[in-house]
Amino acid sequence: MIQTIGVIGGGQLGRMFALDAKRMGYDVIVLDPTPNSPTGQVADEQLVAPYDNMEMIDRLGDMTDVVTYEFENIAIASVQRLERKGKFVAPSSKVLAITQDRLQEKRFLKEAGIGVAPFAAITRVDDITAASHNVAFPAVVKTVRGGYDGKGQWRVDGPRGVQKAFAEVRGETLIMERYIPFVKELSVVATRNARDQVVCFPVTENVHDQGILTMSIAPARINEELTKKARAATAAVGRKLEIVGTYCVEYFLTPQGELLANEIAPRPHNSGHYTIDATPCSQYEQHIRAICDLPLSPPRLLSRAVMMNILGDGKGNHLAGIENLLTEPGLVLHMYGKKHAVARRKMGHFTLLCAELQTGIEKAKASLAKLHWEDIVPAAAAPEPATVST
Ligand SMILES: Nc1ncnc2c1ncn2[C@@H]1O[C@H](COP(=O)(O)OP(=O)(O)O)[C@@H](O)[C@H]1O
Ligand SMILES: [Mg+2]
Repeated sequence: MIQTIGVIGGGQLGRMFALDAKRMGYDVIVLDPTPNSPTGQVADEQLVAPYDNMEMIDRLGDMTDVVTYEFENIAIASVQRLERKGKFVAPSSKVLAITQDRLQEKRFLKEAGIGVAPFAAITRVDDITAASHNVAFPAVVKTVRGGYDGKGQWRVDGPRGVQKAFAEVRGETLIMERYIPFVKELSVVATRNARDQVVCFPVTENVHDQGILTMSIAPARINEELTKKARAATAAVGRKLEIVGTYCVEYFLTPQGELLANEIAPRPHNSGHYTIDATPCSQYEQHIRAICDLPLSPPRLLSRAVMMNILGDGKGNHLAGIENLLTEPGLVLHMYGKKHAVARRKMGHFTLLCAELQTGIEKAKASLAKLHWEDIVPAAAAPEPATVST
């Protein structure tokens, strides 16, 4: 019987997972190097240590019945160590190995018969000529490992740009991909359990700004045929990789109407936040059900929804305008408990439930514009008012 769930990674995905797990009666222990992490604030306990601290990984394993992770850029050795000791980790280290390496991921998708942008590996300076020829420009070069929210990526228009990027990463392996002038970005969040049950949430339409997700629209405004295709490809990915848990596949829709897979996230996804408020069983609860070997819930969209990320801008740590934001009916606010609103950091999001998408998008944009970050000096730290001496 599973009572205690371990989570490696203490960010907002872990926090929303832990909130659902607590609601369902589980105990949650998180491992993250930053004390009082977004997940740690709502979990029963946080082990404060780096993801590759094997002593703490062992402790996490000893304290829990199943272990999962909310971030793919963790040390694979941590997951392998737990598995060797007989601990059930979901998704497995095999899934993690493929999804934390952009080259392996693209090769896997291609072999699975799922369309991807032309790509090539760059491991030596000499690879650049052939890659430039095979992929063609404009292109995007990305670090194979460690990137997220558009970090570790360069848009390049010629071999010189690739050389510059390769020099910047000091010879770390890069993947070069054709730049796709997509008409839309789409994603499908799905969950698979060990009984090979797979459920797919509705396709969402995603808007990014400089590589970081800003808005998700559910359901995506695409035809039935594309919807079926995206869901079928996503289910196939889960089955082929034998993923246990919630995962997401991101796609580009090309001007020719082709669907190209961009990446696989082996965890709940930012584009699936709306499932908390717009479906009876969120992507997080589905993940809990999958890793605890419980039946999955067929996703059902109770309302159309627009999700907006609330990003930091470096101008202050206090979010002003909430009382104004909450005048919008059908708007649900989620904040992540992060204390420092560094520029472009994901601080929270809101989901706007709406009857019609175009109006919903406009209202969501207007709602976001009601918020801004302020630098409030805490009362205790404020300078003493000047006193007039008598
Ligand atoms: N080949 C590409 N063509 C066009 N846009 C791209 C391409 N690769 C990435 N992007 C843009 O950058 C965003 C982030 O890239 P992605 O590969 O998803 O990395 P991550 O989300 O891990 O940072 C994508 O959502 C997309 O907007
Ligand atoms: Mg992405």
